[in-house]
Amino acid sequence: MTKAIRSMENDIKIIDLVIELLDARAPLSSKNPNIDSIAGGKKRLVILNKSDLSDPEINKLWKDHYSSLGFSVIEADSKNKKTLKNFDRIITEVCAEKIERDKKRGIIQRPVKAMVVGIPNVGKSTFINTISGRSGAKTGNKPGVTRGKQWISLGKTADLLDTPGILWPKFEDESVGFNLAMLGTINDDILDMEDLSIKTIDFFKTEYPGLLKDRFGEDLDLKAGSDKILSDMAVIRNIRKKGNEPDTARMALIFMDEIRSGRIGKYSIERP
Ligand code: G4P
Repeated sequence: MTKAIRSMENDIKIIDLVIELLDARAPLSSKNPNIDSIAGGKKRLVILNKSDLSDPEINKLWKDHYSSLGFSVIEADSKNKKTLKNFDRIITEVCAEKIERDKKRGIIQRPVKAMVVGIPNVGKSTFINTISGRSGAKTGNKPGVTRGKQWISLGKTADLLDTPGILWPKFEDESVGFNLAMLGTINDDILDMEDLSIKTIDFFKTEYPGLLKDRFGEDLDLKAGSDKILSDMAVIRNIRKKGNEPDTARMALIFMDEIRSGRIGKYSIERP
């Protein structure tokens, strides 16, 4: 990551705007802790991405929160171009001062230079592809895959710098680790999925009991311990091992998939 940060510190000199993608369901955990210092005094646009999956009421709170810190903020579902239809106008508004300054110096319609940043899996490639109409396959952002810097033109409005290298979240914080595991940002190979499911049920029992009931039926006993609830879910779905025992390991995988894909419904893990 040091390399990625050094490269950004170098690039930032020519940048007008930093576009930072956050996962709307956990906008603190999905934030790289170095961005604020790298971005310095540059104009900032926060994109609460995957907002199609998050709690609309809490999205509003996050918008207010980041606005109060001086950021421009929009919600987006990067898979849906319609949610980004005003993007040109937003960039022009956020960078109005710079565009005005350019005009006074006789420079008309020089595209804003914007750097796009975000932790892995936040939707950076999807966002860039949607906004630019680029259909390119994902070419980087994964360990071991190298690629150079890429400028992507958005016509007269902006040139986007897709930053190479990986920016990690604040993994050393245990709650960040759990939040990102729940959202599927961390490789499952290193996770105990039953344990993760039980912790996830703990969260939903308190914060979104209605979503669990909607998905698994009114009879699901949310007063039971979360390990028992996981087993009850397996019974409800008839997911069983040989010998008819509820298969909690398989249920855990199915449950986490429903959580991450949003089939459970809209939820947010973090509030400002
Ligand atoms: P990255 O470059 O930041 O690493 O992320 P990438 O664009 O690869 O997106 C990671 C996953 O998140 C992809 O799903 C992508 O489709 C999904 N995604 C990105 N933005 C949004 C959004 O605003 N809303 C929703 N609902 N999903 C989003 P995947 O399952 O890994 O791939 P795929 O099966 O969708 O192709």
